[in-house]
Amino acid sequence: MAARQIRERIGQTPRLAIVLGSGFSPVLKLAHIVHRLSYSEIPGFPVATVAGHTGELLVAQLGACPVLVLSGRVHYYEGHDMGRVTFAVRTMAALGVRRILLTNAAGGIHPEFERGDFMVLDDHINFMGDNPLRGPVEPGRERFMDMTRAYDPGLSDALFQAGIDAGLRMRRGTYLAVSGPSYETPAEIRAFGRWGADAVGMSTVPETITARHCGMRVAAVSCITNLAAGISKGPLSHEEVMETASLVGPRAAGMLLNFVNSNAIE
Ligand code: HPA
Repeated sequence: MAARQIRERIGQTPRLAIVLGSGFSPVLKLAHIVHRLSYSEIPGFPVATVAGHTGELLVAQLGACPVLVLSGRVHYYEGHDMGRVTFAVRTMAALGVRRILLTNAAGGIHPEFERGDFMVLDDHINFMGDNPLRGPVEPGRERFMDMTRAYDPGLSDALFQAGIDAGLRMRRGTYLAVSGPSYETPAEIRAFGRWGADAVGMSTVPETITARHCGMRVAAVSCITNLAAGISKGPLSHEEVMETASLVGPRAAGMLLNFVNSNAIE
């Protein structure tokens, strides 16, 4: 129903959906916005509650590429269930969008990571304690979804290069998702590091699982807005996260523009 309503408004199917996490919204300054739909106008779309996450679906031309931008995601920690958190992704898939780029803010666990680095996700650890595929499965969809290669290597390579070309310090690694909203303890971060996690955050993994289940190709990138608890010298704060995100936002926008202009999105 949501997909039908959006299709009536937008005409053609964009080649890529982009979910904007904290700090990535400056990309909208580089885009030509064709349509703007508030989440509240779309049946079934949940409304975001976090400051800085507005909640609009934008149809835009970004460089050479028509894109759908989800500006303002809803998080599990806001109290939404997994169905709501991933509703927008399923709607993108129902519209026929075949690729999705997920962006987020994360805390750095890898000892070499610094504030302001960007990490392209090679893999993830789902430590949210929930899974968006739990419950009845739609006919024709996998019950036990393979997650061996959740992040598309071709898209991920292009994203990494796009970041280098935008002058960013780029990394690759494993993202671990927690439910939040409290930040982690130093003991948790030490444990996550031993498990192989390079960064920690409170989003993205439900969207990745859902997008893969819908047959979409996924790429994702984290802005390392802070060093994780116990690695960071002081206490963690949302202010630090937002401050780093706004410092690197313009270059993050350059990375997304380079990415959509690359051969990976043809
Ligand atoms: N932990 C969890 N989520 C985050 C962090 C963090 O350190 N930084 C930004 N999002």
